[in-house]
Amino acid sequence: MTVLAIESTCDETGAAVARSFGEPMVVEILSNLKASSAEIHAKYGGVIPEIAAREQVAAIIPVISEAIARAKIKVGGIEAIAVTQGPGLIGSLLTGVETAKTLALAWKKPLIAVNHMAAHVFANWIGEKTPELPAVALIVSGGHTDLMYLESLTAWKWIGGTRDDAAGEAFDKAARTLGFSYPGGPMVAKAAEEAKTDLPVEMKLPRPMIYENNLEMSFSGLKTALAQVIEQNGERLSENPGLINALAREFNQAVADVLIKKTMKATEQYRPKSVLLAGGVAANVTLREGLARAVKEAGKEFFCPNLEYCTDNAAMIAACALLRPNYVDPLKLRPNPGLEVR
Ligand code: KG4
Ligand code: ZN
Repeated sequence: MTVLAIESTCDETGAAVARSFGEPMVVEILSNLKASSAEIHAKYGGVIPEIAAREQVAAIIPVISEAIARAKIKVGGIEAIAVTQGPGLIGSLLTGVETAKTLALAWKKPLIAVNHMAAHVFANWIGEKTPELPAVALIVSGGHTDLMYLESLTAWKWIGGTRDDAAGEAFDKAARTLGFSYPGGPMVAKAAEEAKTDLPVEMKLPRPMIYENNLEMSFSGLKTALAQVIEQNGERLSENPGLINALAREFNQAVADVLIKKTMKATEQYRPKSVLLAGGVAANVTLREGLARAVKEAGKEFFCPNLEYCTDNAAMIAACALLRPNYVDPLKLRPNPGLEVR
């Protein structure tokens, strides 16, 4: 089947054309495009929902037209339209959902509703080598940090996650505290890579809940601890600016340490065949490489999407639609900003 997929959860407008073939199913991406309003939001230090929604309206038709053109197919070759139903910002979601409904009705194509968080996980099915189930999946994005047990493509169980801030949210807040702009995660990661100075012991950060015998996490205290270190060491930091990068490296490592430890705990407990990493924070090299090493040592298969499929994109929406199609009535579909992972 060939689908046109549309993604408009937050500040990025994505469209992709993808097709599936074979048994087990292989997903091939024919085109994958996105427009972003992140540069506008950077001025405000975070996403302004009204601006994001307005930018979605401006970008959506050009991005869809270009995705179809680059896939070198005609509208007649599209067999279904897939769209993100939620979770996300209501104004942004509305743009994608209403556009998809209109195209489905005008072009007489079936419509598939996609759960954005599930789609992050399905990014691991793009390409020839696909995960064997059951699997444990760690989903880490701007709004979510969840551990899931995937018994099959459809039977998913939530087994753990954060009590407060999501990992991506923690990165974004830490970036602000360190004086970087939005989106913060990639900036903290870059500063961490460039760090050359050793961090004094008294500036080390905690690894919250790491030794607790459960699959729960907490990141809000870590952000507070970072703010305190900065407040208490103002003079030292201005005398030695290299310490800012060293603090970024420490924060980056603290988040990765907790995520890796808890994912491995879930792996011991649930004994899956594969371990999957998904979501925007999966682009973090410390996390990707650290988790890959730990999973390999445990004798399991590790999967992580290519970088372009980690942060929000429409290719993952197409993958989810092809592997787990949820057909809906175009006249009835409504966006759901609070849709849960399943
Ligand atoms: O999945 P995503 O693109 O959007 C949501 O569904 O939320 O995730 C965005 C989050 C942001 O918080 C961003 O700072 C974080 O992913 N992020 C990273 C990196 N790249 C993106 N965090 C850490 N390191 C990165 N390299
Ligand atoms: Zn996302």
